[in-house]
Amino acid sequence: MPALSSFERKLNKHATTFLIGGLFLSLSVLFYFAFCSLPCDDVTSGLSRADLRDAQNKAFWNRNILAPSRDLVYPEVVFIMSAPDNLMGRDTIRETWAKDLPNTVLLRFIIGTGSLSTQQHSNIHRENFIHSDLLLLKSVNDSYGTLTLKLLESFKWLDRHVEFTHLIKADEDSFVRVDRLAYELQKKPKERFYWGFFDGRAHVKKTGKWAEADWILCDRYLPYALGGGYVLSSDLVHYVSSNSKFLKLFNSEDVSLGTWLGPLDIKRSHDTRFDTEYKSRGCKNSNLIMHKQTLLQMRELHNNLLKMGQLCSKEVEYRKSYVYNWNALPSQCCKRPQEVTS
Ligand SMILES: *[C@@H]1O[C@H](CO)[C@@H](O)[C@H](O)[C@H]1NC(C)=O
Repeated sequence: MPALSSFERKLNKHATTFLIGGLFLSLSVLFYFAFCSLPCDDVTSGLSRADLRDAQNKAFWNRNILAPSRDLVYPEVVFIMSAPDNLMGRDTIRETWAKDLPNTVLLRFIIGTGSLSTQQHSNIHRENFIHSDLLLLKSVNDSYGTLTLKLLESFKWLDRHVEFTHLIKADEDSFVRVDRLAYELQKKPKERFYWGFFDGRAHVKKTGKWAEADWILCDRYLPYALGGGYVLSSDLVHYVSSNSKFLKLFNSEDVSLGTWLGPLDIKRSHDTRFDTEYKSRGCKNSNLIMHKQTLLQMRELHNNLLKMGQLCSKEVEYRKSYVYNWNALPSQCCKRPQEVTS
């Protein structure tokens, strides 16, 4: 078979070429996977691959003046403000209340990456490569002092990239009943809606971590939902996002949001099932969000849910709640039962 042997001769002659070519090809593929599939995800844009795809699809649909296709719609979005180094906190949330969320929920940990060390960067990107649940904001240098900017930047990202109905904002020490919230949200207003545990008589802090040096509006803060967890309809996220350049950023993100939404004609819904004060009021099975939970407590709450179908092994109350009186002036809004008699 002369043809084959001539082919074989050629093959021998070009063996070195093939070898070098093959080596080059393998190296290229290796380089692609090592350097592109990892950082190209989000180093350049702050988006994960899924988000990028969604954003691109959304842009496509908007350009064609069609409704966004269904799989790009997340009725509920959950944002958790998170510190760059708190991997353990995020893992605990991933293994407890954020485990097995329905695919109608978009969950993101929000992290500012503006001033991270090389080591932190590499940790964060490795983490996101595994979980794809970080929203990395390059314009934010993460610290207590930049929480409000972080909230604002996350709103701007959300408004630009996601078609959603409600945003649930939580802290990384909050336990969130996403299932119950999502169920109740079906019957809640889809517009002009601000839901949480409100305070209208909070004194302006002049010292400490949450001091507000620039507060000049009045002697108390304006009514705001406490930051451990609250819910906003998407139009309010849009309102804040589109007016962001005019907004004054106060130190506390929750105080800031209450102030930004202060003059708006919206439904403020006070709900005692948001246990979101600076310390927990106890354990109630009806709670929707429980703030100030340790990692151990989060695991306990999750295990209780798995084992008994309820949050608390025993309901306890350390601190009375209050019903917000919207008919009184703000300084009289929020009296706990024992205060009413005095
Ligand atoms: C954020 O941090 C970077 C690097 O540390 C610094 O150059 C930049 O000025 C900071 N930005 C703000 C807004 O503070």
